[in-house]
Amino acid sequence: MEYMVKLKLLKKGAQKEIKKAKDLKELDRIFRKYLGKRGKITQILRSLKKLKKEKRVKIGKEANLLKKIIEENIREKAEKLKEKVRAEIFKKERIDVTAPGKKVLPGHLHPLTQVQRRVEEIFQSMGFSVIEGPEIETEWYNFDALNIPKEHPARDFWDTLWLKPKNQKLLLRTHTSPVQVRYMEKNPPPLRIIVPGRVFRHEATDASHEVNFYQIEGLMVDKDISIANFKAIIQKLFKRFFEKSIKIRLRPSYFPFTEPSFEVDMTCLTCGGKGCSACQRTGWMEMMGAGMVHPNVFKAVGLNPRDWQGFAFGMGLDRLAMMRYKINDIRLFYGGDLRFLKQF
Ligand code: PHE
Repeated sequence: MEYMVKLKLLKKGAQKEIKKAKDLKELDRIFRKYLGKRGKITQILRSLKKLKKEKRVKIGKEANLLKKIIEENIREKAEKLKEKVRAEIFKKERIDVTAPGKKVLPGHLHPLTQVQRRVEEIFQSMGFSVIEGPEIETEWYNFDALNIPKEHPARDFWDTLWLKPKNQKLLLRTHTSPVQVRYMEKNPPPLRIIVPGRVFRHEATDASHEVNFYQIEGLMVDKDISIANFKAIIQKLFKRFFEKSIKIRLRPSYFPFTEPSFEVDMTCLTCGGKGCSACQRTGWMEMMGAGMVHPNVFKAVGLNPRDWQGFAFGMGLDRLAMMRYKINDIRLFYGGDLRFLKQF
């Protein structure tokens, strides 16, 4: 019964190998070893035709049975291996519902907007209203009504971006001062306003100059307003904005729409007043132009300069933000770089 023993050994061997198979590739190799074209069981089945009928029937039956059993064993094992692979993938990719979530960061206001709102709050608490004016302005409001006639050399202080056609006399406002005139035309004094807004200059850019930047205009008009009132208000503003006492000084200057005129400097916060590159080694930072409203401006809006007096100022919002956050280049505000903006 040589054949029967052979079949028995084949069965034992095949089943042992199937049991040990670690992956589908190995299983495939086993399939070919036993059931492939030249497989061991296949060869036995082929050799049957050489046998006598009686033997052939008996052994043929056994061999075919073995073929079925091994096929079945391989199929089962393949299922198990596939299941194992699926489980591994699942383990790797599965969603851990207990893991901490990824934070979705909300956006926030631009630093200049934050500074503008803070300054507005401080002024509102002192009785000032917040007023706005147009960015496209007429020559009249930007210059003439502010006591800067055509051909006057003072026009050169403001490098103006004129809009075409030039004969319409339209321009991008070079400062927020025209809103002084616009407001006083419609609103009789006494009055206290601030005017935050964007202004434009036809200038080359550098660390402290931009073609557009922000100003906050201030105007207070009443019967009996002096520079002392102005000084007190600015000191209060700085104290609250910078959250500490700030030394300021008034320096004589010239603007056509104020008389007398001065500029306001504050101690440079970058060096504490010792002198550094930010303040050109002077220890002071120029923060605004200011002065007492010129009689001609009152006249331009139909007010009698004998009845009213007041102060006006134009403060650089960007400067204020640069001092507050110790930023050394104004262009950073307009670059849209998130690495910069995310710090505020
Ligand atoms: N408008 C002036 C400027 O842009 C600043 C200023 C405003 C000066 C009000 C005096 C009074 O330079």
